[in-house]
Amino acid sequence: MNIEEFIPMLIEKAFEMRAFSYTPYSNFKVGAALLTKKGTVYGGCNIENAAYGPSNCAERTAFFKAVSEGEREFAAIAIVGGSEDGVKDFCAPCGVCRQVMAEFCDPDEFMIILAKSSDEYIKYSLKELLPLGFSSKNLK
Ligand code: THU
Repeated sequence: MNIEEFIPMLIEKAFEMRAFSYTPYSNFKVGAALLTKKGTVYGGCNIENAAYGPSNCAERTAFFKAVSEGEREFAAIAIVGGSEDGVKDFCAPCGVCRQVMAEFCDPDEFMIILAKSSDEYIKYSLKELLPLGFSSKNLK
């Protein structure tokens, strides 16, 4: 699979998902699009809660949707985030979401795409964003 070919479509999907985010408390709206190694895409948005703690990030929404449908192998995720005014900066995944990625993804291969628009993005490997991460490998 050539992930580069999927990048514009993933960013577009992440923007579509951002429109569904439920953010009455932070007004910070995030969308994500997760690509499996088979080429299927799962979207996610952040979903907040009056009790704050139960809130879920866009990235984890996408991962949990995919894993709950039987997916275990992932190639890349595109993330877009910003206030209601729009996406002005790159939005990097929080530490908890990076740890969820580490559960299912090869840190050297999994690509994290932070986008402001379909042609303005930066790419990182999971290893770059979660160096020395703890994963199932440590328990073997
Ligand atoms: N958020 C995400 O969904 N993903 C990120 O990468 C960063 C933060 C959400 C959580 C919360 O709903 C809002 O953005 C403000 O932190």
